[in-house]
Amino acid sequence: MIPSIEWTKDNKVKMIDQTILPHELKFLIIDDYRDVATAIKVMNVRGAPAIGVAAAMAMALATLEYKNLSKEKFLESMTQAANQIRSTRPTASNLFWAIDRIWKIVNSLYDDPTSISELVIEEIKLMAQEDINVNKSIGKHGAELLDDGDVVHTHCNAGSLATVQYGTALAPIRAAIETGKQISVIADETRPRLQGARLTAYECHYDNIPVKVISDNSSGLLMMLGKINKIIVGTDRVTSDAVFNKIGTYMVALAAKDNNIPFYVAAPTSTLSLHETKEDVTIEQRNAEEVSNVLGKVQITPDGVECLNYAFDITPFRLVTGIITEDGVFTPEELLRKYK
Ligand code: MRU
Repeated sequence: MIPSIEWTKDNKVKMIDQTILPHELKFLIIDDYRDVATAIKVMNVRGAPAIGVAAAMAMALATLEYKNLSKEKFLESMTQAANQIRSTRPTASNLFWAIDRIWKIVNSLYDDPTSISELVIEEIKLMAQEDINVNKSIGKHGAELLDDGDVVHTHCNAGSLATVQYGTALAPIRAAIETGKQISVIADETRPRLQGARLTAYECHYDNIPVKVISDNSSGLLMMLGKINKIIVGTDRVTSDAVFNKIGTYMVALAAKDNNIPFYVAAPTSTLSLHETKEDVTIEQRNAEEVSNVLGKVQITPDGVECLNYAFDITPFRLVTGIITEDGVFTPEELLRKYK
């Protein structure tokens, strides 16, 4: 896959517009941090690592806009920009991790606003490249878990589109295929935004990875029938007791446990938030119309009926077989020992 987000030579943010996939592959070119913030909120760009890089790039645009201000005004304007970017989506750790990383540069050098832009732009380029490198390492470690012929189930999209490139949950599948193993993917549709049906299916198909799409309520039966060998999902945040990922992940994990199927979570260390417990995390609730209307086009509920739209759920560690980071594969207990 082509990069889902990149910094252009003329200092703009170029991103795939994921809201119109799979029907059209179009790019947004953005030169105002406010518009990047909106793109994160409305999910033109989505997936925890891609959100992180987009947020960092938004900060870089803000430094360009404000670099000629006095140092007091610069810091004040950057604080406002950071707050606006922070307020876009509450659950993915990467958003906050990325803003904090850029903020360290802004804060340490604000005596000299003009040189900050250049340093921040260097940093975001590094972050984008690091993202790809980390995903490749996740792929290498995760590929060892996969056997020739495996059918791997994934939920939502934690592929190339959700990162800069290569993906997290799809990385072990890509890497195993690169070493000659025959691996195929079962993607569930992932209501209400259909990231599985639209995006995981799109990028697998684009890269010749065998993929079948199922409705969200099918994976339990397929596990029971022996048609799924392993599960790999991505994550938006890992706390000291649980994994946060797209709504529906918990039910997949429960069915996996009941059917003795390994349930793996691919998590770059930028997604770890091990000083927190599950009670500390805000689960994003999105507009109810995402549930009552399929992709904003067809209303499927009676007028006047309330809908709930929690965007993420919580999978307790007891249901997780292993967490794949760029450093290796760890049980939840090992993960805590290594990183906490
Ligand atoms: O709401 P989204 O599409 O941003 O949610 C994405 C997911 O839940 C992914 O599984 C997660 O961000 C990991 S992406 C590598």
